Order: sequence, then structure tokens, then C-alpha cells
Amino acid sequence: MKEYRLKEVSKAKHIILEKYFPAWARILKSKHQTLIYVDCFAGSGRYSSGEEGSPLIVARKANELIEKDKSMKFYLIFVEKNKKSAQELEKQLKSYERENVKIFVFNEDSHDFVPELLEKIPKNIPAFFFIDPYGHPLSIPVINKILSMQRKEILLNLMWYAINMHLNNPKAEQTINRMFGNTDWKNQNFIRKERENNFVEYFIRQVNAKYNFKFRIRFSPEDKVHGGENRTKYYLIHFANHERAILLMKEVMWTIGDEEGTFDYSASHQEILFSRTPTVEQLEDVPAHFIKSVFEVMNRAKHLTFQVLTKRSERLLEISKELEWTENIWMGVSVENSNYIYRINYLLQTPAKIKFISFEPLLGPIYEFPTKGIDWVIVGGESGPNARPMLKEWVMEIYRICRENNIPFFFKQWGGVSKRKNGRELNGKIYEEYPYAKKQG
Ligand SMILES: C[S@@+](CC[C@H](N)C(=O)[O-])C[C@H]1O[C@@H](n2cnc3c(N)ncnc32)[C@H](O)[C@@H]1O
Repeated sequence: MKEYRLKEVSKAKHIILEKYFPAWARILKSKHQTLIYVDCFAGSGRYSSGEEGSPLIVARKANELIEKDKSMKFYLIFVEKNKKSAQELEKQLKSYERENVKIFVFNEDSHDFVPELLEKIPKNIPAFFFIDPYGHPLSIPVINKILSMQRKEILLNLMWYAINMHLNNPKAEQTINRMFGNTDWKNQNFIRKERENNFVEYFIRQVNAKYNFKFRIRFSPEDKVHGGENRTKYYLIHFANHERAILLMKEVMWTIGDEEGTFDYSASHQEILFSRTPTVEQLEDVPAHFIKSVFEVMNRAKHLTFQVLTKRSERLLEISKELEWTENIWMGVSVENSNYIYRINYLLQTPAKIKFISFEPLLGPIYEFPTKGIDWVIVGGESGPNARPMLKEWVMEIYRICRENNIPFFFKQWGGVSKRKNGRELNGKIYEEYPYAKKQG
């Protein structure tokens, strides 16, 4: 299982692209029927292992989208410097061409070609740029030119391990000068332990994007790098000028595995409940600055409600004083059986405006729990092939305590091997109550 997850992470950029591209297109299509995708370092389309590269993924997704909505139109632009790769790519992409999916392959150097392309792309048509080099990306001036245009956004692969090797190498100085568009980087403190963080933060500061979101990808076992499981291979950084774009990307990045995430996270008008469970090791080393950056986005997105759920209640309390608790952030702890009731006490000491308990998966009876200060209770059973059963009397006991203490009660599901079949009725009724403060608002 772990092996599989890590392997998946090594393909993170493709998983993210595959999920983000159609989501991006679907959001924009209500106002923009024509959309542009530019793959600046396109490759040959397929890996030697037979797996699809970014061009084929995007071309396939564009085809699927127009199948469902014939009014959409895509211009897919691929730039590849290597002649053989460009020829192979053209061959690979032939079968994806449609009237509504126009495909262009350019055998060019992106550093020169993209600035020329920008002159030709209509200003108001949304365009998504994927920058995925082996080493240095497009230069910051070119990146900033892209972002200065309306409705343009970038997913950039910052190849830290390659750039890191270059930083102290005098022979690579010219290349780095070109990447930043100036020599100021030489005055920065990129030394030892802080080197990586400082460099990435510096790079991000040079980019004129209102929002950015970075996701760190470590080496996978198949990379066979000594100590690689703790070392950064690359960062995927999303740059955009619309909050909605960055929130969407966050949701997408979160679903591929908790490289850095402690919290289950959901951002939705429909208050979708997330129930993913990161492992303890993953939870141990989440840097505080990462959690803070997530909170900053949630603080700004006041029109959305965020349900944040954790098992690490001690850590939650520890960091809670450094966070801003706007009313759109509902903070919860998981309590699976009476051994974990102590988590509620930690939650209650935080300044969170809305506090909830998620008794899910409920695995044993709970006869009492602290109720003062609790705004909401969710109960649900375990689901999946080895699901452990949840007894009705356990649910009813929690329901009774909620009623006695005037706490809104949400019954999510019975769970079990077939959770759909088992449904979510309790005594013939669906319980979908929400925190009162929310209702009044
Ligand atoms: C990491 S690979 C791209 C993989 C591809 N994005 C994918 O996911 O399948 C980088 C590609 O960029 C090409 N390349 C390198 N320098 C380039 C440049 N200046 N302009 C355009 N392509 C370049 C390389 O030949 C290589 O095929």
C-alpha cells in the first residue's frame, strides 16, 4: 500500500494535471468557450514505459470534455526543442485532433518561442501554461509576462534537485542569471539547512502572482537516491491571480496524498465531508508554516466554509494560538471510541469559532463526552471491504447526549461493506443538522 502511494507521488505532476485541467476547463466554460493550453517543455508524449506524458493526458481530457459539451473549443499548443521528440509527439497526438480540439506542435526553444507566442494569444482567452523542464524553467521575466495577461495561470515544476546542484557551480552562473533575469540571487543566503527554503521562497517572491501554492514532492524508492524519502525532488508550484484557481488546485493537490498535509481539507459550498486518514508518520513532520499558509487562504475565502478535521489534537492546540480563526473555519477532532475522548478537551481550548466532533468511524460505545462549547456532532460508520460494524445503540447514545445538550446532530452513514445499501437513515429519518451559528448566518 505504502509502495503504491509513493510510486503515485513520483507521478504527482501527471495526476495533478489530469485532475486540474478538466476542473479548470469546466469552471471557465460558462464564460469562455475557447481555452488554451500551452505545454512549454512537452516531451515526446509517452514515456519509454508506455505511460502517457503530459501532452497525451491533456489531449485525452480535452477530447472527453468536448464529448460532453460540444460548445467547448481547445487550442492545445506543445513546444519541444528536441526534433525527434517533437516529431514523435506529433505522431502520438494525431488521433486526438478534432474540429473542437486544435493541436499544434512546435519544434522550438521555449525560451524564445513563448515570448513570441504571448504576442499572438488573445488577451482575454484563458490559458493554462505547464512548465515542466528537466532543469531550469522559463525565466522569471517570461513567467511574469504570462501572468501579467488576463486569465493566464501557470503550473511550474521547479526541479530543486537539478537547480540545487547548479547553485554553487560557477559554470552554471549564466543559466541562473537567465532564469531570474538578473544577478540579485547571488546576494541571497542560500546556505546549508535553510538553502532549500530560502531559495524556493526567493523564487516565489520574484514571481508577480497574487496567489501561489507549492507542493513538495520527495524522491520515491524507484529513484534509488540515498535518504531520498526525506529529500525534495521537485516542487510543483501553481501561480494564479484568481483565488478560485488556487483553491481548486489545493483541493486537487490534497487528494494525491499528504506529502505535507496534516489536516483533512475540504472547500466547498456543499460542505462535503472529507474522511481521509493520513498516517501518523505523515502527521509528525508537517511544518507550521504550511498549516499557516492553508489558514491564510481559508481566512481570505470567507464565502466558503472549511471543515478541518484532525486526530492530532495536541498539535492542534499547540499551533492554534498562531492561527486566525475566522468563522468560516469549522474545526473538528475525530473520536472513534472512548479512548479518544481526550481529544475533545484539546479542541475546546482552541479559539476556533465553530468546534465539532466527528465520531467516525465509530468503533465503540461512548457514554459521555464534554458538550459545553461543542457546536456540532457528526456520526458515521466505517466503510470498505473490512469495515467494522457500528451498533445502533452507540449511535442512539450519542444522539441522546446531543439532544439533551442542544447540539446539532449529523448522521452521515451506517457504512459497512456496501455503504450505499446501508444508507443513512436513523429510525427512518435523515439527520442533517448543522451548527446553529451557521444557520443564523
Ligand atoms: C521533463 S521533460 C517533459 C515531460 C513532459 N512534460 C511530460 O510530462 O510528459 C522536458 C522536455 O523539455 C524539452 N526541452 C528542454 N529544453 C527545452 C526548451 N528550451 N524548449 C522546449 N523544450 C525543451 C526536453 O527535450 C524534454 O523533452
